[in-house]
Amino acid sequence: EHIEWEMSAAQKGGYPHFMLKEIYDQPKALRDTINPRIRDGRVVLDDVKLDEGYLRGLRRIYMVACGSASYVGNHAKYILERTTRIQVEPVLASEFRYSEPVLGDDTLVIIISQSGETADTLAALREANARGARTLAIVNVVGSAISKAAHDVIYTCAGPEIAVATTKAYSTQLAVIYLLAMYIGEKLGTLAPECYAAMLEGLQRLPDQVAQILVPENLAKIEEAAEAFSRNHDVFFIGRNLDSATCLEGSLKLKEIAYVHSEAYPAGELKHGPISLIEEETLVVALATVEKLFDKTMANVREVKARGAHVLGVTTEDFAGEITKYVDRSLIVPKTHPLLQPSLTVIPLQAFAYYIALARGCDVDMPRNLAKSVTVE
Ligand code: G6P
Repeated sequence: EHIEWEMSAAQKGGYPHFMLKEIYDQPKALRDTINPRIRDGRVVLDDVKLDEGYLRGLRRIYMVACGSASYVGNHAKYILERTTRIQVEPVLASEFRYSEPVLGDDTLVIIISQSGETADTLAALREANARGARTLAIVNVVGSAISKAAHDVIYTCAGPEIAVATTKAYSTQLAVIYLLAMYIGEKLGTLAPECYAAMLEGLQRLPDQVAQILVPENLAKIEEAAEAFSRNHDVFFIGRNLDSATCLEGSLKLKEIAYVHSEAYPAGELKHGPISLIEEETLVVALATVEKLFDKTMANVREVKARGAHVLGVTTEDFAGEITKYVDRSLIVPKTHPLLQPSLTVIPLQAFAYYIALARGCDVDMPRNLAKSVTVE
């Protein structure tokens, strides 16, 4: 037992939990995933055989996955549609497999999975193959069932992820979406060269910007916010556009590891239901990193504040001063290319959930009722 304990302490690299170690692994995981695929100022995907002729015939892309990986699909809708002008539909694997999806040779199915073994995701992949679609898998585990069954594979290079709640695998999946968005956008001519160059520059800076969020002063601020809000039992994450997708992940993290009831809503939907649940001291986490929608999201913040909510705002350094006029506390992230911003926004949300789980005495790495990989239906 003593030996086992020492092994696990060694694997945690001095951190108290795998989750915290893996949060800190993210700059390296991103570098390992991004750098080998950029050569001479171009995105190069050696393993992918999507030629221009095939891409020109594409009418639709499905993003299929479970859990956090499915939220990468929600982001991909905004990112890939913007750069490729092809319609993108994120679908949960457990739904996709039984829904008789519209598939054919004009449809690409992109499957996302850390483990490459999730039962519903694998079944959805097989369904897509059987119905004549081309399949591309974004997978972390080399040689996994999903990596073997897909036509094309792009590996995330996150390294082994031990904590049940994903952090670094999720971040590298997002990075692969950016690479694909640029790769397809360039081939189709739908991504303006200036935009391509700006995304490339952003991608190369991303690992250092993530590291910048993880400096001790910043983490202490996140921990302090988590302690202040650790007794809240109803949390709403609101945001618009790409932020609405990031809300899904921030909210799932709280449910998974801190057992806090939490919901994610596109901020514009607030008035269509959830606002009736806002009471004195309900916590609202408002993501407001999308520049052109900052004012709209702050209008929603005003509405929940008027009903007594406590608001934690998350925005970029450009709005660091402005947001203090609206919210009780704020967490500031560096700014990047708008399509890449979710990679920075999610980092404080991971740490926030981690510290809330700690404050509530939860087993961070092995949350109750959850498995790292769900291999039965
Ligand atoms: C489980 C894990 C999640 C993960 C999901 C999909 O529910 O707890 O963290 O996102 O499975 O797993 P996969 O290995 O397919 O990415």
